[in-house]
Amino acid sequence: MEGVDLEEQIRRGAQIIREGGVVAFPTETVYGLGANAFDEMAVAKIFELKGRPFDNPLIVHISRKDDIWIVASDVPDCALILADAFWPGPLTMVLPRNPSVPDIVSAGLSTVAVRMPSHPIALKLIELAGIPVAAPSANPSGRPSATKYQHVRAYFGDKVFAIEGETQIGIESTVIDLTVEPPVILRPGALEVEKISEMIGPVQSLKSDEVSKPKSPGVKYAHYKPYSYLILLTERSKIISIRDILREFRDDISILFVMTYSYDQEFQKRVVDTLGRRISFIFAGRDEREVAKNLFDILILKGAEYDLMIFEGVREEGIGLGVMNRLKKASDMIV
Ligand code: TXA
Ligand code: MG
Repeated sequence: MEGVDLEEQIRRGAQIIREGGVVAFPTETVYGLGANAFDEMAVAKIFELKGRPFDNPLIVHISRKDDIWIVASDVPDCALILADAFWPGPLTMVLPRNPSVPDIVSAGLSTVAVRMPSHPIALKLIELAGIPVAAPSANPSGRPSATKYQHVRAYFGDKVFAIEGETQIGIESTVIDLTVEPPVILRPGALEVEKISEMIGPVQSLKSDEVSKPKSPGVKYAHYKPYSYLILLTERSKIISIRDILREFRDDISILFVMTYSYDQEFQKRVVDTLGRRISFIFAGRDEREVAKNLFDILILKGAEYDLMIFEGVREEGIGLGVMNRLKKASDMIV
């Protein structure tokens, strides 16, 4: 809602949620598309707007830690420890579902995903709405998550009321399943897995061969796809393999190379010499955290501008694990 005082935007957003509508709002991770979690019809509107399959459950967002009890039916000690340590913040916990949460939110599962975000706008919105808010990332299903107000506008136009604001981290929350022993990381994300283990001991990660099992339904769908063709380059030495791949593409396609860690002129020259094409270059960030912040903005905006993007990967540690998880899903080819 451009040109309207922020307090007023939040107030109107809360009213829309109370009346059964959908509101896009910034969180510290990415933009969310929220509705009253206890209103089935309102939640259905989110699925419709996103074109989201009904078997992919949503995260319920709360503004007070104690509200975990109105969403979950059982809260194990490890959940209380994690909530104490990392809430408000980018951690989503999967817990046994309180029967008062409608089936549609959890896609019929007996569990529910809960998160207390730290972004002041998100917290204020949920507090004023007075109810937990079910919210997936604000993107059409399968596309990169919106991290800016302008992304939300580009995706949904006037179809949804959106509150202006800035996200901070740039990739989504870490999702952990606490209904199993040991707990399983269903989605690496903004909160480093290493920090979680420090609090509750070893956790398991969902292996790629388990991706088709319905444990975290979301992981089986196409995700984060930009409008361009995307190649993920895992090591600079492998640039030579991309030359062969490019033979399949016409000579006049537009190509963008996204560099990470250092804007290295020598490497830039090597890319151009090796690939023998006209290529534009941009820089995504000096470390994993900076790349996380720019990742979806590049995938959304540059993906619309270029025919093909080559994205240089990052180390799979800390938040880099979450960045690479998104890049692998987004890419058409990994070299
Ligand atoms: O940072 C975030 O988490 C953002 C902001 C808006 O909070 N939200 C977000 O929501 O990324 P979404 O819907 O794009 O991703 C939620 C993920 C999906 O992979 C979904 O399958 C999984 O969480 N999930 C939700 N409920 C679940 C459940 N009960 N069991 C297992 N996985 C669940
Ligand atoms: Mg999403």
